[in-house]
Amino acid sequence: MLRHVTATRYVTPLREGGSLPGLMEADDLGTYVVKFHGAGQGRKALVAEIVSGELARTLGLPVPELVTVDLDPALGRTEPDHEVQDLLRNSRGLNLGLDYLPGALDFDPLAFDPGSEFAGRVLWFDALVGNVDRSWRNANMLLWHRAAHLIDHGATLTFHHGWKAALADPAAVAVRPYDARDHVLLGSDPDLDAANSALAPLVTREAVRAAAAAVPDPWLTDEPGFDDPDEVREAYADILTARVAARDLWLPGVRETAAAGRARPATRAPNPPAWLVGRLPR
Ligand SMILES: Nc1ncnc2c1ncn2[C@@H]1O[C@H](COP(=O)(O)OP(=O)(O)OP(=O)(O)O)[C@@H](O)[C@H]1O
Ligand SMILES: [Mg+2]
Repeated sequence: MLRHVTATRYVTPLREGGSLPGLMEADDLGTYVVKFHGAGQGRKALVAEIVSGELARTLGLPVPELVTVDLDPALGRTEPDHEVQDLLRNSRGLNLGLDYLPGALDFDPLAFDPGSEFAGRVLWFDALVGNVDRSWRNANMLLWHRAAHLIDHGATLTFHHGWKAALADPAAVAVRPYDARDHVLLGSDPDLDAANSALAPLVTREAVRAAAAAVPDPWLTDEPGFDDPDEVREAYADILTARVAARDLWLPGVRETAAAGRARPATRAPNPPAWLVGRLPR
């Protein structure tokens, strides 16, 4: 179970986010980036945020605390933007909050190198959960107190958009290749072998169950093909443990891409040395 808070004030929309998350204050005096269940991405994006985010935390990766946020849409009364008002009106009740990291910068791989060990762990994890949203265009990492923090796992676990097919052929999901060509950390020489030895043993059925247990029941209720929320949670455990067991089939492709370092963003042109500057025509 995630900690539960009640929103007390809508501060501002975060327009960088496609789902229009909002910055909110809550009754515990905390400030949260709130992702609304009424957003176009729907409740599955919130489920993916929790299952992947809590699993990442179990693997020792830094993820801001996740909480559930109770919302009274009346808090948006004074919001001038109709889009925001509609979003709040459609999001009464339970929503998802991430602890707001004040002053955090969007991660820029050209400005900060988190090192091979960290890069390997993030890339390995992203390959496991099929995260297509950690590219150099949109890193979905924040630099805070000189360390990278992972955010935005809403686009992971895409197999849950077609449970019927996934459960009919779990092996296909387990071996599905991960396209790492655009991954934001390719330039950090990710150490995938170290990550694989350290993290694979941690992705146990119990670990996935615990991550899925943090998802509130209402977001797993009435899922076609399942009798109850616990059955859905068990399906996440089935698929992710199968995927970890089959890692020898998807990891080599990721390793190859990482070794080639393809699709690295063009490196910034170095400053010309002083001796050259003096000789350049003005
Ligand atoms: N915990 C946080 N602390 C500080 N800033 C945050 C936090 N979470 C998100 N942000 C800011 O809000 C932006 C949008 O967040 P996020 O990427 O999670 O939303 P999204 O709607 O899923 O975005 P998209 O799908 O467009 O990437 C981030 O790029 C970041 O600038
Ligand atoms: Mg994002």
